[in-house]
Amino acid sequence: MHAQVAIIGAGPSGLLLGQLLQRAGISNIIVENRSAEHVLGRIRAGVLEQGTVDLLDEAGVGARMHAEGLPHDGFELAFDGDRHRIDLRALTGGRGVMVYGQTEVTRDLMRARAAAGAATVYEAEQVSIEGIDTTAPCVRYLLNGRVHTLHCAFVAGCDGFHGISRQSVPTAAIRTFERVYPFGWLGVLSDTPPVSDELIYAAHARGFALCSMRSRTRSRYYVQVPLDERVEDWSDARFWDELRTRLDAHAAASLVTGMSIEKSIAPLRSFVAEPMRFGRLFLAGDAAHIVPPTGAKGLNLAASDVRYLSRALIEFHRTGDTTELDAYSARALRRVWKAERFSWWMTTLLHRFPDAGGFGQRIQQAELDYLIGSVAARTALAENYVGLPFDD
Ligand code: APR
Ligand code: PHB
Repeated sequence: MHAQVAIIGAGPSGLLLGQLLQRAGISNIIVENRSAEHVLGRIRAGVLEQGTVDLLDEAGVGARMHAEGLPHDGFELAFDGDRHRIDLRALTGGRGVMVYGQTEVTRDLMRARAAAGAATVYEAEQVSIEGIDTTAPCVRYLLNGRVHTLHCAFVAGCDGFHGISRQSVPTAAIRTFERVYPFGWLGVLSDTPPVSDELIYAAHARGFALCSMRSRTRSRYYVQVPLDERVEDWSDARFWDELRTRLDAHAAASLVTGMSIEKSIAPLRSFVAEPMRFGRLFLAGDAAHIVPPTGAKGLNLAASDVRYLSRALIEFHRTGDTTELDAYSARALRRVWKAERFSWWMTTLLHRFPDAGGFGQRIQQAELDYLIGSVAARTALAENYVGLPFDD
């Protein structure tokens, strides 16, 4: 088997890269170790920056997102019993975000890929990469007990944080930066109307809470929990009680509860691997970096990596010029680190840290107070939330 680009992983990064390359006439095959149903069963992020929306449009998969997604012009910060609106549109000169689930983005990309007749190998086992320091690397995997070899010119490592791409690189060639937070998010998905038209990020003495949504009839809620918490110990009733406690009285009173259709705990982590390119292997998305979800940046960063990488591969395909490919890692990392900073800052601002102490808590209160009193501070928050500009 042969393709110009072998893509490892059929998450949003791999599928979006595949779609952009396909439209530019660059052959690509995706090798994924899980089934399509498993990939679609994961409940992940839900907020798209304008830049991500534009890239999905460019990839030809924006129709359902525009029809069913919910454009948001702002969100609310809740603390000390009150809610304060962050007016994204007014603060950023007309920009906003689109609320549309990662699961739906993935479904749209899978359908487009099937329609284009591009190949995706699902349930590939023992995926490995060879020859990234040559001009003819290959990806090997086992399918139905047989070894397959996919020859290519480039490998795109889009296989998430636990994937093999980053792990295939010699440790001396890679530097990693990490912060693990001492808590996780317990998330619930329910077919109930969202408590409010906009997202609510709540800072409370018992911990952070977030009210988000997937549609006008489907809600996504989270509460901060200690890392040793077990999801089995959280009945729906316990979850709703805890969420209500952390919200302002008005939101608590209008919260519509119901049966959860998904409930899970995710740890929070900041992680960056540098560089993002090793010879003919290019990392994109969670394979190269993780952000805590507080800033809603994970999926958007994956999209911005894919934007840079697809443009670079298309440029090389057209002209043979490697300038863009050579610039990929540094260019992607500049945007990654700014999103890392923002995600860390939002997390620090809104969560209860076990070791914060009295001083830490007062600083947090002062920062929230500063934010609601200062247009400059709110502008900095808003311009990061809607997404910083691209460097091209
Ligand atoms: N071989 C092949 N595929 C693999 C391997 C492997 N060894 N390991 C993992 N994968 C697959 C996973 O099953 C998954 O489908 O790679 C895919 C990676 O997808 P994601 O983890 O969704 O990562 P990415 O596409 O970069 O998307 C980033 O998704 O995880 C969220 O919060 C994150 O929103 C962000 C976005
Ligand atoms: C979500 O809807 O899952 C979501 C929204 C905003 C965030 C994180 C998660 O910051």
